[in-house]
Amino acid sequence: MVKGSVFAVTGGSSGLGQGVAEVLLTNGAKVIILDIQTLIDDSLKPFADNMCYVKTDVTSEEDVKEGLATGKRKFGKLNGIVSCAAFVGDVEPIYDMKTKRLSSLDNFRKEVNVNLIGTLISIRQALPLLIENEKDADGVRGVIITISSVVGLNGTPKMLGYSASKGGLINIIPPLAIELRNYAIRIMDIAPGVCKTPMIDKAFGREAAAQLHNDFPPRQIEPVEFGTFVKHVIESPMLNGTCIKFGGRQDVATGLVE
Ligand SMILES: NC(=O)c1ccc[n+]([C@@H]2O[C@H](COP(=O)([O-])OP(=O)(O)OC[C@H]3O[C@@H](n4cnc5c(N)ncnc54)[C@H](O)[C@@H]3O)[C@@H](O)[C@H]2O)c1
Repeated sequence: MVKGSVFAVTGGSSGLGQGVAEVLLTNGAKVIILDIQTLIDDSLKPFADNMCYVKTDVTSEEDVKEGLATGKRKFGKLNGIVSCAAFVGDVEPIYDMKTKRLSSLDNFRKEVNVNLIGTLISIRQALPLLIENEKDADGVRGVIITISSVVGLNGTPKMLGYSASKGGLINIIPPLAIELRNYAIRIMDIAPGVCKTPMIDKAFGREAAAQLHNDFPPRQIEPVEFGTFVKHVIESPMLNGTCIKFGGRQDVATGLVE
């Protein structure tokens, strides 16, 4: 299923998206990277012939449509999309007693815009291309994988926009799966725990981020380890319409921002 297939990876320039791209390319897929930052990790450079990069803002329907069309022109088809692009804004209390300041609503709006609406745009724009595929032996034409977070299941204080965006994403998966079965498309969401990526450095600061870990095993998820799990989800046709937690509880992260 992965070998010879074509996948788009949003947010593929960094962190988990980069890990997903690396695993898919290593296993013989072609990959279209859609990211707002023009950076290709060194680990992906040996696969230059099997990948293409299109600078894309996932909050723009036109950008995502054009990015996917560019990839399809190069590789001839699209078998799936892994939607990793996301933004984490300032970690701040709803009201700061010292400064007497309310938290930023712009921050909240941006997190919902990129993480929830941007992911929905990626799903919407991939759909017409996936529907063009012939059905495989399981009767499936394509697969969509979104990335939420354990924060979307539990919520995290001082990260209201991020919590709302990820909770919203988790809640659109079951109804979308019911609609998408009419087109023979699978959709799955993965809710990771703490991962070793630039995102947690940005949210908590490098030093504090280094202390974060999942409950058990007590460490952070590596991007390539995450990519290997995405490959498993792609290759497991009976996984559909739900959110899988990957990495367990997040008590330590919650404790840090309280
Ligand atoms: N790092 C963690 O601990 C963790 C935990 C749970 C869930 N997640 C989720 O995993 C996914 C990957 O995050 P990561 O940790 O690899 O973060 P990251 O910051 O390393 O990568 C995110 C990527 O998304 C891109 N991006 C941001 N806004 C974009 C936009 N508008 N359009 C296109 N691309 C955009 C960035 O340029 C970046 O390359 C995200 O959905 C994140 O919320 C991360």
